[in-house]
Amino acid sequence: MTRSEEDGHWAQVYEAKAPTTVSWYQETPEQSLRALDRFEATACSSLIDVGGGASSLVDALIEQGWQDLTVLDIAAPALAASKARLGAMAEKVRWEVADITIWRPRRKYDVWHDRAVFHFLTEPEQREGYRSALSRGVAEDGLVIIATFALDGPEKCSGLPVQRYDPASLAAEMGDGFQLIDGWLEEHVTPWGASQSFNWCAFRRTG
Ligand SMILES: C[S@@+](CC[C@H](N)C(=O)[O-])C[C@H]1O[C@@H](n2cnc3c(N)ncnc32)[C@H](O)[C@@H]1O
Repeated sequence: MTRSEEDGHWAQVYEAKAPTTVSWYQETPEQSLRALDRFEATACSSLIDVGGGASSLVDALIEQGWQDLTVLDIAAPALAASKARLGAMAEKVRWEVADITIWRPRRKYDVWHDRAVFHFLTEPEQREGYRSALSRGVAEDGLVIIATFALDGPEKCSGLPVQRYDPASLAAEMGDGFQLIDGWLEEHVTPWGASQSFNWCAFRRTG
């Protein structure tokens, strides 16, 4: 798939399906909220949700009083769905329609959050582009939380092939400047009751 076909793919997914019916839907982003708490991110931190789609993570963080929130996604309709859900609260968030593999952050964030995006980057140059954005976009001592399909997770999502990881292989992708501080598994249950094994990792920026 070319880059523009990928943009189109994701836009079509969000145009065709209600956000509550996609396999990755979760009513409450429990793993993310627990990890932010455990690794001592607070409402004073800045956070970017990379490939945030129509996730309600941002809703939960607004409710907790976070002031500096950005949601980036390649699919404009995904962000439109979140804005519609949030109503006037949407003004509290910065929204970026961009492809993370070519995006150049203009600032740094204390927290970089990615649930189920990095695993779609099956080409080395896509991962190189992602790492370049990560390196420019994460503050010194910043926290990086990434969830991918685990080694026993699905081989495809949304009709696209994925690369599956465990903490060691994801840490190898992140490189020397990001220290793995924890890795854990989650069994995500889709809206139709199927189980998907996720690999969650937290990294601290060290270099
Ligand atoms: C499986 S969904 C996960 C959405 C969200 N993180 C969540 O947990 O609900 C993957 C998301 O990544 C977005 N995406 C895929 N490739 C991307 C890219 N290269 N740059 C930015 N977003 C991308 C898709 O539009 C989609 O919203």
